[in-house]
Amino acid sequence: MYRQQIPVVTAEEAAEMIQHGQTVAFSGFTPAGAAKAVPKALAKKAKQMHDRGEPFQIRVLTGASTGKLDDILAEANAISWRAPYQSSRPLRAQINAQKVQFADLHLSHLPQMVLFGFFGEIDVAVIEASELTPDGRLYLTSSIGASPTFLQYADKIIVELNHYHSPRLYEMADITILPPPPHRSPIPIYHPLDKVGLPFVQVDMKKVVAVVENNEPDGIAPLEEPDRVSQRIADHVLKFLCAERRAGRIPREFLPLQAGVGNIANAVMACLGENPDIPQFTMYSEVFQDSLVELMERGKLIGASTCSLTVSDENLQHIYHNMDFFAPRIVLRPQEISNNPGVIRRLGVIAMNTALEVDLSGHANSTHVLGTNLMNGIGGSGDFTRNAYLSIFMTPSTARGGRISSIVPMVTHADHNEHSVHVVVTEHGLADLRGLGPAERARRIIDHCAHPAYRDYLRHYLKTAPLGHISQNLEKCFELHNNLIKTGMMLPDLDLRVFQETTERATPAPTREEERMVK
Ligand code: COA
Repeated sequence: MYRQQIPVVTAEEAAEMIQHGQTVAFSGFTPAGAAKAVPKALAKKAKQMHDRGEPFQIRVLTGASTGKLDDILAEANAISWRAPYQSSRPLRAQINAQKVQFADLHLSHLPQMVLFGFFGEIDVAVIEASELTPDGRLYLTSSIGASPTFLQYADKIIVELNHYHSPRLYEMADITILPPPPHRSPIPIYHPLDKVGLPFVQVDMKKVVAVVENNEPDGIAPLEEPDRVSQRIADHVLKFLCAERRAGRIPREFLPLQAGVGNIANAVMACLGENPDIPQFTMYSEVFQDSLVELMERGKLIGASTCSLTVSDENLQHIYHNMDFFAPRIVLRPQEISNNPGVIRRLGVIAMNTALEVDLSGHANSTHVLGTNLMNGIGGSGDFTRNAYLSIFMTPSTARGGRISSIVPMVTHADHNEHSVHVVVTEHGLADLRGLGPAERARRIIDHCAHPAYRDYLRHYLKTAPLGHISQNLEKCFELHNNLIKTGMMLPDLDLRVFQETTERATPAPTREEERMVK
């Protein structure tokens, strides 16, 4: 249909429409729904231009991380500026070498910032879609992200029409763009499956300069099987949620859950799904991961609001082949709505996210190793943590084979502060921090969460720190980090063999009774 109006071009021809120095907004929230063909052609063009001694770099906006898009553009030195989130090794290296400027943002804030021009004009939006109609209805694919806003504000639009995706994805889509403040009404979402928008984005056809045909999958690899540490963390979360429900602090019908990215979150969701004490539940989250497919089919997960279908290619095909079942149970929303603070607070979401390190006050660092090197970015973790009914942070107690403790006197970068973090969990236990003063919080985090090999150090730190409302020794609070920089170990005298034995003693494989509880 679009063929009569819009030129269908190759990805290389589309790349020629993008110039050095321009701001380009790509679709993609995780690799799901990310633009694929044009970024590859842009990387090729950048390399050719660099070989000729000509400059070519663009400013890149997306919904969140993207997978290959960031990898290939970074490898071609084609990015000068990037927002709001990434998880690409080559791009991370360039950001940490300050070759690429990176703005680390709460994902729910992005559309409004674009709308008000915080990042300047958007020259071109490159958006993956499953259909474009002559009257300008654009149907998005496996993620919504910030594409509706990009489409509205970009000067030019290039559509990557990807025939790999199910044409029935529109049945999940619920797209709305909030009007600018102060003209906003409450968003009428009272249940994760409530819909408030349209299944497509209305675009101005005059701005659509090209269509590129494509047939490429999102290319998401399946997650690993949960290891013992993730399994233990999941057990602690599960017991806590069951106890909260028994105590009446979580209603009988339960509350919507949000789970962050990665293996720990996936293990927690699988574990909750197995347990008969957890009733059927819903999710109000930003990603829909692999473990949720089976939970939904078993009837444990009865509905999910998400921004993307971040599942393996195999699972995505499974969903596409069973749209009669999945379409009424999943709502795909723009990130401004999937991560909306007002809706999260209204629904009473239980948020479960992962941190790199947590300190004795309960501040969490999710983004910067040693306060300097970016890992991925804050993503949606802040949107959920700050507004959740219950906010849980999970982390393995150590990293790099015990050389690093994830529980430290003070975090080197604070993404989530003590006021928003209610519960901290490692494989050693769970610290419920609600209602505690600083000294008690610190003791509970050490006793329940720190690895046994680090507890004496942390207790001594606490005992010898100058008193105040919070005990803190400003000369020593980064001693563990400084040791790590100097010696490669936070505790240089730690015997890693003894550490290993302690770990095995402290986190034995689950007992039969524990296995029964989980099942
Ligand atoms: N200090 C230094 N390095 C650390 C560390 C610490 N305290 N803790 C972990 N690391 C290292 C690990 O050794 C590993 O290094 P490697 O990649 O070289 O092997 C790396 O950091 C990742 O650790 P891992 O335990 O595999 O992390 P993960 O995959 O579970 O991800 C976060 C953890 C925090 C990086 C990830 O959850 C994240 O980016 N969160 C922020 C965004 C977010 O929460 N989004 C979801 C919102 S819905």
